[in-house]
Amino acid sequence: VLEPIPERPALPLIGHALRIPSGADGLLYAIREAKEMGPIFRFRVFGQEFTFVSGLDLVTELADESRFRKNVHADLVQVREIAGDGLFTAFNDEPNWRKAHEVLMPAFSLGAMRGYHPAMLTVARELITKWDKASGDLPVDVAEDMTRLTFDTIGLCGFGYDFGSFRRADTHPFVVAMGRALERVQQRSESIPGTEFLQWRKEEQFRADNTLMRELVGEVIRDRRASGDTGTGDLLGRMLHTPDPATGAVLDDDNILYQALTFLIAGHETTSGALSFALHYLTKHPEVLAKAQSEVDALWGDTDRPEPAYGDIGKLTYLRQVLNESLRLWPTAPAFAVEPLADTVIGGRYQVRAGETLMVLTPALHRDPAWGDNVELFDPERFAPEREPHRPVHLFKPFGTGERACIGRQFALHEATLVLGLIVHRYRLIDHADYQLKIKSTLTIKPDGFTLRLARRDRAE
Ligand code: HEM
Repeated sequence: VLEPIPERPALPLIGHALRIPSGADGLLYAIREAKEMGPIFRFRVFGQEFTFVSGLDLVTELADESRFRKNVHADLVQVREIAGDGLFTAFNDEPNWRKAHEVLMPAFSLGAMRGYHPAMLTVARELITKWDKASGDLPVDVAEDMTRLTFDTIGLCGFGYDFGSFRRADTHPFVVAMGRALERVQQRSESIPGTEFLQWRKEEQFRADNTLMRELVGEVIRDRRASGDTGTGDLLGRMLHTPDPATGAVLDDDNILYQALTFLIAGHETTSGALSFALHYLTKHPEVLAKAQSEVDALWGDTDRPEPAYGDIGKLTYLRQVLNESLRLWPTAPAFAVEPLADTVIGGRYQVRAGETLMVLTPALHRDPAWGDNVELFDPERFAPEREPHRPVHLFKPFGTGERACIGRQFALHEATLVLGLIVHRYRLIDHADYQLKIKSTLTIKPDGFTLRLARRDRAE
């Protein structure tokens, strides 16, 4: 027997609009709503419908790629103004998606991380140099510095381009432009239909920001071509010179530009948020920090300047558990959408239409009762190796699902584990302001206003 998808009583026309706060509160509201309304519920706003799914059984069903695929929903269509048919925003049937996927998959394999490791270490050391100066003295703004780090890392590993974020006090103009452009995209989708023309100034700014981003990335691509360098050691080299195995053709210049913008967008805020949440939880859980410290100490001893090898990162298994548990509570890309390939029934009773947006609300899935009691508690033991085989496959989805899942997952995890390792090896983390977690949400989420004081660990202890 079919049943309607649960929803609260709605007003005519505006639907549930008045209930829904904007920005961060919107996400937190949806998580709270999932708790009250259950594993599937619907919002209506000005004639648009949003269906949120978060129960393990339903998400398991939606992960079946013979029935569902990625949905490029309204917000992503907006992001296409920046990232075009790059991997993240490509429609499923755009030929450039498969072409770029085939060309780039090997560049994101676990083995490929060996090639990026030295550049990741270079940037990590710039962070350490900055934090050494602050240590014992000034607090550091964690999310800001993590963004400097992840941005410079993707610039260097992806394009051999040095944004130099640690050598400037202000934010790199590209990062400012990108942040503002993404914010604009989100505001557009939240504004009342028909009122966009009132915001022409912001639209003008959006066009200027988009131009700035394109010009910078275009210049990096032109410089590489002009240099005659045909190496395929980084993402740009690979895109310029590796033919797609199926068609024998390389990616066209417009698409390379879109992929480059995509990696800069997708590759840095998510990873920087994950690092910031992990540092927050390490600070609040001294017993977890101590365990992480003994793991890195066992590897690097008490040398002042450890030389983490590529192979060390895979050995930092407890730190990886810490990262996973942080991504469980706050998956930094907090939702992904799928659509039915044909009209179908889910959960045995809810009718859904071909192509309709079904949002998987990851933070709520990550609090499903299948995680056990105390789902709000930060506990890296949930990811202990002996427990791994018992976790249902689709219970943990911070990187999305199926063919359109995150291509940068190994990249993010390698980078984040390396950096966390170096930080916990070197510093005590001092919660000087008794920080209370507050979520800031743009398209991604991060801890808002999280600052730390650092002190060098006393090696003699
Ligand atoms: C896709 C999360 C890091 C590049 C995705 C998706 C999620 C995600 C949930 C699926 C989106 C959807 O279904 O609409 C994350 C998280 C990261 C991270 C939580 C860090 C902790 C990275 C990095 C890169 C990257 C470092 C690149 C260097 C991409 C790309 C896609 C993607 C290109 C689209 C893949 C496709 O559709 O073919 N990511 N990501 N991500 N991510 Fe990531």
